[in-house]
Amino acid sequence: MFYYGKNSLNKKDKQKINEVLNEGYLSQGKSLTILEKKFAKYVSAKYCLAVSSGTAALHLAITSLKLDKKNKAVTTPMTFVATVNACIYSNIDFDLVDIDSNNFNICPKKLIKYFDNKKNQNLTKIIIPVHYGGFPCDMKEINRIAKKNNAYVIEDASQAMGAEYKKDKVGSCKYSDISVFSMHPVKTITSGEGGLITTNNKTLFEKMKLMRSHGLKRKKDTPWTAEMISIGYNYRITDLQTSLAISQLERINKFIKKREKIVKFYKKNLKGNNISFQECLDDSISANHLFTLIFNNKISHANKVKLYNDLLERKIKFAVQYLPINKHKYYKKKFKKNYKNSENLYKNAINLPIYTDLTHKNLLYIVKNLNKIIKKYNL
Ligand SMILES: Cc1ncc(COP(=O)(O)O)c(C=O)c1O
Repeated sequence: MFYYGKNSLNKKDKQKINEVLNEGYLSQGKSLTILEKKFAKYVSAKYCLAVSSGTAALHLAITSLKLDKKNKAVTTPMTFVATVNACIYSNIDFDLVDIDSNNFNICPKKLIKYFDNKKNQNLTKIIIPVHYGGFPCDMKEINRIAKKNNAYVIEDASQAMGAEYKKDKVGSCKYSDISVFSMHPVKTITSGEGGLITTNNKTLFEKMKLMRSHGLKRKKDTPWTAEMISIGYNYRITDLQTSLAISQLERINKFIKKREKIVKFYKKNLKGNNISFQECLDDSISANHLFTLIFNNKISHANKVKLYNDLLERKIKFAVQYLPINKHKYYKKKFKKNYKNSENLYKNAINLPIYTDLTHKNLLYIVKNLNKIIKKYNL
């Protein structure tokens, strides 16, 4: 079965995990600091923290900020539920601002309009741009809006490891306070489950580090005592996972190149259909976490079911990311407004398989069948 994403493992990855098993330090050992140093260097950020998941990373990031209970966050409806759930974990309410219809990320113009409302200006103190599909948001403009409104910026870069914005790696935090990444198996690199946080702010880094492990600190005068000095969690990541991440990070350029190659192949071989693709901003390089295509002639639900079943019969399973946040049963009541661009994307787009281990033969098979079915139903 061809799923939308999948990890790529090799012998070296397995060797690295074995080395940890042989050493015996299974949690917070040598691999943890090695990974954190290497990743901070990779994105040119001052500090990096490895944690148990991207969700944990988001939760720590939000909790580390100086906020009032009345404060809110603002993000996009076109994201994974973890982005907004992390706000709720931190007792922070959230609002949504729709995406740009071409680049599928939070629309800066709409964000300006959102902050024109005095109540939002007073209460909303975090902006969480999500780099959808690994395509960078307009961070310079988002940062300008944040500064003007005295708000923090946390980049949800879960899908954007390896992406670049104006020649800097996403995660450099040049235009944000904190960036968070996921190392779930479908992401650019994997540690099984895992997350990474980067920041250039020492105070925030130390706060998050403390909260990663129960808020406990060794007392200087009695070093045998661990004292809890802040609320904390168990968001530690094991050395089995960080050793895998180190090994994967060594191949990140290869992974990104392969994803670029797949995108080129799809675009070339799907030409001629009435479809469009996600647009990357000038001066940006996408990590191509997703390959999204949109049917220009809106696709009916009935046709989408036919397309899904016909592809599934051929062992090709497309995904649709995401049901917009305001459409989830759990959050529905909270939102009265419609978010037209996000809802259009959900209705009319599909995500095709994209991952390192797809061969040329696999890709030929996928496009041959997809082209055939698109023609069959005149999509
Ligand atoms: C945009 C976004 N935010 C947050 C997350 C959560 O990451 P994790 O699955 O590592 O907790 C994901 C991962 O699926 C994601 O895609």
